[in-house]
Amino acid sequence: MANVEMKVNGRAVRRDVPDATLLSEFLREELRLTGTHVGCDTSQCGACVVHIDGKAVKSCTALAASCAGSEVTTVEGLANGELHPMQAAFKDNHGLQCGFCTPGMIMSGIDMVTRYKAAGRELTEEAIRHELEGNICRCTGYHNIVKSIQDAATKM
Ligand code: FES
Ligand code: FES
Repeated sequence: MANVEMKVNGRAVRRDVPDATLLSEFLREELRLTGTHVGCDTSQCGACVVHIDGKAVKSCTALAASCAGSEVTTVEGLANGELHPMQAAFKDNHGLQCGFCTPGMIMSGIDMVTRYKAAGRELTEEAIRHELEGNICRCTGYHNIVKSIQDAATKM
């Protein structure tokens, strides 16, 4: 067993979990933060993306124990009284259909906008499509997902 301590959405948490517990399992089953979705068992779909110390990571690829001491943000931690600009942009641009991929798309979207802004680079439509390589939408609504991220980039 591992004694795992980390900050999740600004709150300190501590749990004893089996060594092999994935971060996605830790979030969903231990903390009941079910906004982080699990859509595959091959690390392909990106529905499980969260931020670890500010960077987008597929939470099904990280052991909870290896994230000890980290600050983790899930989709539940984004809204602060009002929707995060990325959440609002998905709503305004119809960037979701069934919504299963949406938490991962939003977390990846925030990460890419933040990285490109920090580097002073323009986040073009082509760059967004390339960046979304690791996120799959089974409803195939990529056009509006890209539009949502472009819209959010003007507001973040
Ligand atoms: Fe993590 Fe699919 S559940 S990539
Ligand atoms: Fe249904 Fe993307 S909105 S999987």
